[in-house]
Amino acid sequence: MKVLYSYNDIKQEVIQPLIKWAGGKRRLLSVYKHFLPKSFNTYHEPFLGSGAFFFFLKPQRAVLIDKNEDLINFYTVVRDKPLELMESMKKHEVSKEYYYRIRSKKPEDPVERASWFLYLNKTAYNGLWRVNSRGEFNVPFGRYKKVTFFNKDNLLKASELLRKAIILCGDFSLVLEYAKEGDFVYFDPPYFPISETAKFTQYTNENFTKDDHIRLSKVFKELDRKGVLLMLSNSDTEFIRSLYSGYNIRKVIANRYINCKANKRKGIRELVITNY
Ligand SMILES: C[S@@+](CC[C@H](N)C(=O)[O-])C[C@H]1O[C@@H](n2cnc3c(N)ncnc32)[C@H](O)[C@@H]1O
Repeated sequence: MKVLYSYNDIKQEVIQPLIKWAGGKRRLLSVYKHFLPKSFNTYHEPFLGSGAFFFFLKPQRAVLIDKNEDLINFYTVVRDKPLELMESMKKHEVSKEYYYRIRSKKPEDPVERASWFLYLNKTAYNGLWRVNSRGEFNVPFGRYKKVTFFNKDNLLKASELLRKAIILCGDFSLVLEYAKEGDFVYFDPPYFPISETAKFTQYTNENFTKDDHIRLSKVFKELDRKGVLLMLSNSDTEFIRSLYSGYNIRKVIANRYINCKANKRKGIRELVITNY
């Protein structure tokens, strides 16, 4: 079988993720890269978020999925209209008044909506993206003094890379329609909570439930039967271990920055599960 991508192909050129995202893997790449398969064809990332892995790998062909419509609209605009987006960013002001004025006014036009999304992502508290039950963005202003919305060169490189990708808004199970033998899928779902009180940020207006985790494990098993290479990260809990017993389960220590209290950030244990 012809292999499109080899791990050794990773070019030195760095593309930084364009947004901050809860659960983003940017800081964990140095740990996770050791678990990657050596080679594969198409790359699939069905819980895209900030796409830290996608921008790190720079694959020749990719299928990118996320349920968050605003996020997917943003990447589609970065891919198709990067210059218009950069132009539209010029009008934004970094002030509390301006932030609250535009926070609830989601534009219809795709470029304006991507510009609104990037503005809020960079100025909201801790870069969080959280919506209420009506789907309205409700994170408070982050009180940043200086904000860099984007780096032009980086955004244009990201745009070029995204042109090699199919970008889809929907449920992770869409991956079943796209992933083929020899492809590689990296699953990074909202983590199963370690405790009832440790529920992570709400990314969309639907929570990722225990049933969703069970559904995900079934998708994992179906893809495994098809000969797709699979890697999944999740919290180190008995429930997750039981869903993937029979696969390679490794424990990693992750320094996550999701907790605002510095003393609680350190050393969260998580699992990397692979079928290879
Ligand atoms: C932990 S984040 C992924 C972080 C990503 N790896 C990164 O580096 O930024 C989980 C993502 O899953 C998305 N999501 C939640 N439920 C989903 C579903 N049912 N199907 C697809 N995506 C979903 C969220 O919108 C969020 O972007």
